[in-house]
Amino acid sequence: MAQLTGPKKINCAVFISGTGSNLKSLIQFSKKKSSPISIELIISDNAKAKGLKFGKIFKISNKVFNYKNKLIAEKKIISEIKNKKIKLICLAGFMKILSKRFIKNFKGTILNIHPSLLPKYKGLNTHQRALLNNEKYSGCTVHFVNSKLDSGKIILQKKVRISKVDTPKSLAKKVLIQEHKLYPKAIRRVFNP
Ligand code: GRF
Repeated sequence: MAQLTGPKKINCAVFISGTGSNLKSLIQFSKKKSSPISIELIISDNAKAKGLKFGKIFKISNKVFNYKNKLIAEKKIISEIKNKKIKLICLAGFMKILSKRFIKNFKGTILNIHPSLLPKYKGLNTHQRALLNNEKYSGCTVHFVNSKLDSGKIILQKKVRISKVDTPKSLAKKVLIQEHKLYPKAIRRVFNP
């Protein structure tokens, strides 16, 4: 993605489905002078996503798309992304799987954050599965998105120690704190390899 670097910030869209705590941390990061990105669009498949409030607070355009028909939803998203000249897509708790067609369209410009040390625990319920397997560590991963779920090239990871008293909830909380630091760091890495 080196060709995207330059003095001007890159237009970025963040896709969410829920709380949006990663969205919030990315917005705060984007406001820094040294940040390579400017968040110009927030996309959600869920009108009730709590994270949509950050669009209002930070005056960033929010768009909700009904995913009953994925093809139609994605067509609308693509047109929105092109209108806003988006060059980087950050998935942050977006619960829909993007189609192969969509991913191909934005090849190499979609990032995702996943709450495990990939390639371990792809998919859902990562914390629960890590605890059931008596793992000593879990963590989070930022990676490029390719057509296989949670399998694209890894950009950065952060380990988190699992304690004996951890529950899926307490572990999720610990990992999330690291996610908020890791995503901005990974974006810097992408633009400044
Ligand atoms: C995070 O744990 C992220 O890694 C996963 O979904 C969660 C989203 O949390 N993909 P939030 O909406 O950013 O608070």
